[in-house]
Amino acid sequence: MEPPQSEMLLLLMVLEALWTGGNTFETHIIGGRDAVPHSRPYMVSLQKSGCHQCGGVLLHQNWVLTAAHCLTQPTQQLRLVLGLHVLGEPSLTYRIRKMVLHPEYKPAPHLENDLALLKLDGKVKPSKTILPLALPQGRQVVATGTRCSLAGWGLTHQPGQMARVLQELDLRVLDIRMCNNSRFWHGDISPHMICLAADSKGQAPCKGDSGGPVVCRRGQVAGILSFSSKNCTDIFKPPVAVAVAPYTPWIKKVLRHNGPLPHLDPPEVALIPCSKEHPAAGQPGAQMYEGTNKP
Ligand SMILES: *[C@@H]1O[C@H](CO)[C@@H](O)[C@H](O)[C@H]1NC(C)=O
Ligand SMILES: *[C@@H]1O[C@H](CO)[C@@H](O)[C@H](O)[C@H]1NC(C)=O
Repeated sequence: MEPPQSEMLLLLMVLEALWTGGNTFETHIIGGRDAVPHSRPYMVSLQKSGCHQCGGVLLHQNWVLTAAHCLTQPTQQLRLVLGLHVLGEPSLTYRIRKMVLHPEYKPAPHLENDLALLKLDGKVKPSKTILPLALPQGRQVVATGTRCSLAGWGLTHQPGQMARVLQELDLRVLDIRMCNNSRFWHGDISPHMICLAADSKGQAPCKGDSGGPVVCRRGQVAGILSFSSKNCTDIFKPPVAVAVAPYTPWIKKVLRHNGPLPHLDPPEVALIPCSKEHPAAGQPGAQMYEGTNKP
């Protein structure tokens, strides 16, 4: 059976990227670049014992959106670090007051509705280095071909270590039907997901980048990075994000029903070095769910 022409075209674009995309630059995210310090003041690092686990995005004075699969530890053991550029440097650190997983979150292997809202133990005072990102307008999932970017402190090589400096990467949205077909994610993609691809092979988010925001329109969070393959740069298993737009009614409802807190505990400053418990290499706790896939 012949695949429809649009699918074929996108497949060719992907293959072209594979063939022509030799990246000669030093690779980060994998294949990303250093972010301008504090140019993404909404970025959050979800940490356990000073070790980066996942990304997240500040949505409001006291709410963070991340991937539900990042929350496998009791929340008492987790911290949210805001205003951070270089991992391990002291920055404002909050405890988690409340965790709300999406009511229809399905954990692996059928990872779906992979979203969670975390309420900070205190309110953020907006500043140049800490500022919420807005929810998308409308309910539409971003269209095929849209240019987006994401940022994270995830692995810069495989095997390898977490990035020290926040990395960012440009991507575009792939056709969802192609992404769901037997050569790619083979039926694992739901309509509320976004498949992404960088411009060249050897560029991809990796372990430790999940939970971080995908930004397609300036000032709005379009997606939350959810899963990819074990080999992060496998072009037939492109990274997948949860589209935020279809979930905005749920997010707004949670934020509304859990109104602002009185300002209680002053935030701590993170001083626990990650290397105390885990040798810096690898930071084995970091989350990026590796999608199940049948050959
Ligand atoms: C992907 O394929 C599966 C299995 O055929 C299907 O249930 C799902 O709805 C498809 N996703 C999209 C976005 O069409
Ligand atoms: C990962 O996938 C890429 C692209 O398909 C391939 O070139 C590379 O050899 C793979 N790496 C490993 C460790 O399997």
